[in-house]
Amino acid sequence: MSPVIPYTVRPMEARDVPAVAAIERLSFPAPWPISTFWYELTANGTGFYFVLLRPTERPGGGRWKRWLTGMLGLPEETPVIGYVGFRLLNDAEAHITTLAVHPDWRGRGLGELLLLTALESALARDPVRRVSLEARASNEIAQRLYRKYGFRFRRVMPGYYRDGEDAWLMDVEVRETAYRERLAELRRKLEARLSAGRPT
Ligand SMILES: CC(C)(COP(=O)(O)OP(=O)(O)OC[C@H]1O[C@@H](n2cnc3c(N)ncnc32)[C@H](O)[C@@H]1OP(=O)(O)O)[C@@H](O)C(=O)NCCC(=O)NCCS
Repeated sequence: MSPVIPYTVRPMEARDVPAVAAIERLSFPAPWPISTFWYELTANGTGFYFVLLRPTERPGGGRWKRWLTGMLGLPEETPVIGYVGFRLLNDAEAHITTLAVHPDWRGRGLGELLLLTALESALARDPVRRVSLEARASNEIAQRLYRKYGFRFRRVMPGYYRDGEDAWLMDVEVRETAYRERLAELRRKLEARLSAGRPT
């Protein structure tokens, strides 16, 4: 039986954008402005964006906190703790445009869950054969994550970022049976890890 993970990943909606942009600002030296997320969601028909939500509270749990928040007129705490997105460049290629987890939630397998979601979603769009992305040359954490999912370094894009840092272009061929099996195995291990961390 598949373990039940305590996190939800669902398509990004317009109401998620402020929380997503806030995580973006905490995560990148040259963050996307909020207008770019609006554009990706509304005008760019080739974009696919997902948000990760914090574990749901048990029924009745958090009732006092919500009551106090309402009484004090404070803004409701957002459930969004991460996001990922990709664009279809053409029939054969999907390009991951963004991926981030809120700093308080990193190191628990959630970046992996988001990357896996994007890869599975890209694979579900049939002619897609390759998934590509750019990572900062200095971003060893992201590069390790991508290598774990089979991405290979292709080339340097000199001065790609606004602050002048180089990007690494990385990609992975996704259509082979062996790669689909690798993804399924990675999901099985990840779900076991995430469900083991489930609050009781
Ligand atoms: C990159 C990022 C999304 C990873 O998310 P995360 O939830 O912290 O990562 P996970 O816990 O899912 O770890 C997945 C893998 O990433 C790598 N990784 C994660 N944290 C790491 C660390 N501190 N040191 C080295 N590798 C690390 C490992 O390969 C890890 O696999 P493992 O657990 O089998 O070792 C997150 O660090 C982030 O939001 N960074 C800022 C934004 C960013 O750089 N996005 C990528 C743009 S290219």
